[in-house]
Amino acid sequence: MIEQLLPAAVASDELFHDPPEAELLPEERAALGAVGRARQEEFTSVRHAARRALSALGLPPAPLVPGLRGAPSWPEAVVGSMTHCVGYRAAAVGLSSRVRTVGIDAEPHVALPFGVLDRIALPEERGQVAELAHLVPGVSWDRLLFSAKETVYKAWFPLTRTWLGFHDASITFDAAGGGFHARVLPTTGAPVGAPDCFKGRWLATRSLLITAIAVLEGD
Ligand SMILES: CC(C)(COP(=O)(O)OP(=O)(O)OC[C@H]1O[C@@H](n2cnc3c(N)ncnc32)[C@H](O)[C@@H]1OP(=O)(O)O)[C@@H](O)C(=O)NCCC(=O)NCCS
Repeated sequence: MIEQLLPAAVASDELFHDPPEAELLPEERAALGAVGRARQEEFTSVRHAARRALSALGLPPAPLVPGLRGAPSWPEAVVGSMTHCVGYRAAAVGLSSRVRTVGIDAEPHVALPFGVLDRIALPEERGQVAELAHLVPGVSWDRLLFSAKETVYKAWFPLTRTWLGFHDASITFDAAGGGFHARVLPTTGAPVGAPDCFKGRWLATRSLLITAIAVLEGD
């Protein structure tokens, strides 16, 4: 599924279960430390998916250790993103000569808990979610908004190494075409040259919402 949201220059891989053969490399095991079973499984499986995606780019297995603010450290000259939620793990990678940044996010396809939309959405986004919920009732637009914002952050952070809050970007969905546009608001104190907008894609299945952004070199 994730593949259809990404350009050909980005290699991706996804899993709907935790493969028994998935293993961590020693650096990853040390970085993970003692955690519960669910965290161990998602951390291990998503790295298995990431190594398969790296191999599709012709690259050897490499340790993918959490770095600054949790962002994964990719091999030199590689950009990428990972996501996991119940029943789904995915990774997307590209060569930095062709791809500036990637962000992906998956969420269970259920409405956000009460009160969360008010915390994460700008006023215009709340209006849009209400309108889309009326026009296209089969999609949890509030959760999709949350996912799109997390994807923006995952694409933004490796480029800027700065925080972006939920109110620092405004998302507009193209409901029919499966696209979205993110405008980074000028109040963020972003470094010079940071992107002021992103174009993304989304899809909804019965159980999952997935969003993705890929910025190609020269875009
Ligand atoms: C970091 C964050 C986006 C992760 O999203 P999530 O839905 O909780 O979790 P997901 O399973 O989708 O993704 C987790 C993966 O994201 C990646 N990740 C974590 N921090 C990251 C960062 N700063 N930059 C890029 N990727 C990051 C990691 O690969 C992580 O998996 P791992 O710990 O197994 O390596 C989220 O926890 C967060 O901090 N959000 C607040 C910032 C934000 O979303 N702002 C909105 C701007 S409009």
